[in-house]
Amino acid sequence: MEPKKSPAWLVLRQVRAVDPSRGLDDTVDVLIEAGRVVRIGRNACAGLESLAGARVIDAAGKWLLPGFVEVHAHFREPGFEYKEDIESGLKASAAGGYAHVCAMPNTRPANDSPSVTRHMIERAHALGGPRLYPIAAVTQGLKGEVLTDMAALKAAGAVAFSDDGRCVTSSELMRRALQAACALDVAVIQHAEDHAATATAQMHEGDVSRRLGIPGWPRQAEDSIVARDLELVRATRGRYHVAHASTRGTVELVRRAKQQGLPVSAEAAPHHLLLTDASIDGTDARYKVNPPLREEDDVQALREGLADGTIECVATDHAPHSAEEKLLPMAKAPPGMVGIEFCLPLMIGLVEEGVLSLARLVDALTAAPARLIGIEAPALREGVTANLCLFDPAPRYALDERSLHSKSTNTPFAGRPLTGRVQMCLAQGAIAYEYDGK
Ligand code: DOR
Repeated sequence: MEPKKSPAWLVLRQVRAVDPSRGLDDTVDVLIEAGRVVRIGRNACAGLESLAGARVIDAAGKWLLPGFVEVHAHFREPGFEYKEDIESGLKASAAGGYAHVCAMPNTRPANDSPSVTRHMIERAHALGGPRLYPIAAVTQGLKGEVLTDMAALKAAGAVAFSDDGRCVTSSELMRRALQAACALDVAVIQHAEDHAATATAQMHEGDVSRRLGIPGWPRQAEDSIVARDLELVRATRGRYHVAHASTRGTVELVRRAKQQGLPVSAEAAPHHLLLTDASIDGTDARYKVNPPLREEDDVQALREGLADGTIECVATDHAPHSAEEKLLPMAKAPPGMVGIEFCLPLMIGLVEEGVLSLARLVDALTAAPARLIGIEAPALREGVTANLCLFDPAPRYALDERSLHSKSTNTPFAGRPLTGRVQMCLAQGAIAYEYDGK
């Protein structure tokens, strides 16, 4: 990333600071000195306007939030750099307000060895900007046959384990992975899909797929894996997280498991919270994603689960693919959509509709995902390194996918209404992104 000029002092005047982890929602001044938050308080920076070397931003009407934590992004490096690489992925993350990002292991080679894990971390470290945390594979080559050396991968810097894109279908491998996860105090993140039931699927199985004559992916292919895994969690007490939950069944299973005290968590992606299979006409593969867009009832359940904390995290499942790949017919096009750059402007609509509170949404983007991967959550607290997102909630505009920083623009939200814009992202104490009006 091009180094951005971070001033010695950054003064944000009269900003609405929201940090649910501290019960904070107040209009304050914030002073950042040499990359650290040093002062937060009402009028705390009055008189500092003339400080030599200070940059003063009149932030009245803007929101200051802890920097976001993404637990589900695909940066494609090594192996598929034409779709995205660590540099473009981090730029896109900063533009979305993310200070910390987890990169999924379905690269080529897969991130199943300490050398790939270390490569990712070193590459990101050299670039600066948001901090990258690799999620390593559960099984070698993501083949579902032999477990990786999870202890060595954790020692190299992996923060969680997943075969994302592929389900760990063997119950024995999953049991052993959860045992190892328990000993290492990390989470296994499951892509819950019974591949035997989805072999030819291109979308959700329901009225729409039947009308279009397109092979479908039944809900039960997700629910049955989650139900089985929860029994393995009960036996092993290993931490378990459901990636991109998409069905009512998953929400209800996770809710019950939590009530029983199992160490379980889940995430939902904006597209599963905002779109249904009714958007699909069979000609536009930008709507193809795994798990697929489901029905209104599933969306309702996911929203309720997010609001009541059953689903702790919002994760974008940022999955870049080239324009050529996404122009292929549905049957041939790869599943996935980009999303890391406009998550909050999409999700704010749910706050405006009263589906969930702003505090819950901010928690789902910050403290909850940080807990999953065991890192200190970005916070609006004096003394911490500045990992922050300055957000302007006012602008209303249509998403122009050509303005994205990602190498890929595959999103069905192109042209759809957004609310608000990330103005600035501070990551690891430095300005990683600033909106330049374009
Ligand atoms: O839609 C998806 N795309 N789902 C996944 O699980 C993998 C991802 C990808 O890597 O493109």
